Amino acid sequence: MAQLSIHQLSKRYKTGEGVSDISLEVQKGELISLLGPSGCGKTTVLRSIGGFLDPEGGDIRIKGQSILSMPPEKRPTAMVFQSYNLWPHMTVYENLAFGLKIRKRKKEDIHYAVTRALEMVRLSGAEKKYPTELSGGQQQRIALARALLLEPEVLLLDEPFSALDAKLRLEMREELREIQAATGMTMVFVTHDQEEALSISDRIVVMNAGKIEQLATPKELYDHPATLFVASFIGRMNFLKGVADGGEARVEGLDYPLKTDLSGNVILAVRPEEVQIRDEHEAGMQATVRQIMMLGHYAEISLDTQHGIVKSFLPREKTEQLQQGQSCKVHVGRTSIFSD
Ligand SMILES: Nc1ncnc2c1ncn2[C@@H]1O[C@H](COP(=O)(O)OP(=O)(O)OP(=O)(O)O)[C@@H](O)[C@H]1O
Ligand SMILES: [Mg+2]
Repeated sequence: MAQLSIHQLSKRYKTGEGVSDISLEVQKGELISLLGPSGCGKTTVLRSIGGFLDPEGGDIRIKGQSILSMPPEKRPTAMVFQSYNLWPHMTVYENLAFGLKIRKRKKEDIHYAVTRALEMVRLSGAEKKYPTELSGGQQQRIALARALLLEPEVLLLDEPFSALDAKLRLEMREELREIQAATGMTMVFVTHDQEEALSISDRIVVMNAGKIEQLATPKELYDHPATLFVASFIGRMNFLKGVADGGEARVEGLDYPLKTDLSGNVILAVRPEEVQIRDEHEAGMQATVRQIMMLGHYAEISLDTQHGIVKSFLPREKTEQLQQGQSCKVHVGRTSIFSD
């Protein structure tokens, strides 16, 4: 049985915005991300799970039981917000103990749980400090510890690291992944940062305008985007306009067999690492080298073509013969084809 299952969830605000037809299942111990641009409905889904919003349609179940009629504090969930939401007048210990106190847990148990949670977020010894005496990253770790020690069936995280600087964000990602591995906790993580989602998730739910575009592993999303939106939202991509006809999609000098029955105008989405540069005499799309940028172990090549600028990522050693202004042919490996 799925740890969390959402069935045809819908929520419309008075403005007409919101989410509709959201269905997904999260397995125990899985970290799933809700990823999409600002306003696509990520927080709306997360708050509906946490009980801070009343959806008008659909169902949300945890371990098979509908939780919709429960108030937030009765749900087997805990939420970590973007802003840390620590109580400033309480010490770290008191902040952490609070949730367990209202659950009437014994003093020794609370002490044990708080100590363990602090170890987990690597802040042992911070018990007596006040939130203002901690850095942003440390405060967010305390907020995470507070949610962890409630031992929720599903931990909800709404852009928890977005207020932190880039280096700290990377560290926190790794720590969250380690905590998840150590605890086996099921997590739903909201972010609008595709790199963050790709790096920490078991699976990603890509959302756009209140709907799910694709639900897949990071690798599947990257290699086989299901829609043009996903293709343009995840990773770097070239888009070439072509025509589909007789089981093939064609762009100047290139053709690809079609797996679907597309016809008419199509768009080919091509990752820069799938763009190869060949000798001018070979088959392919006519191009001129516009710019070569060395980026460590690989180079980013901009090519001028009849179809606009095409970017290619090549290993450094493959760029030695290339020169700016040189004529060449472009050959494309894997491509995803969408109707235009
Ligand atoms: N309380 C509200 N009343 C009316 N409209 C709302 C309310 N909350 C959110 N919305 C609208 O619903 C849509 C989805 O909002 P939501 O907060 O879920 O987006 P999000 O994906 O979390 O965005 P962000 O990345 O900016 O946090 C948006 O268009 C937003 O303007
Ligand atoms: Mg949000």
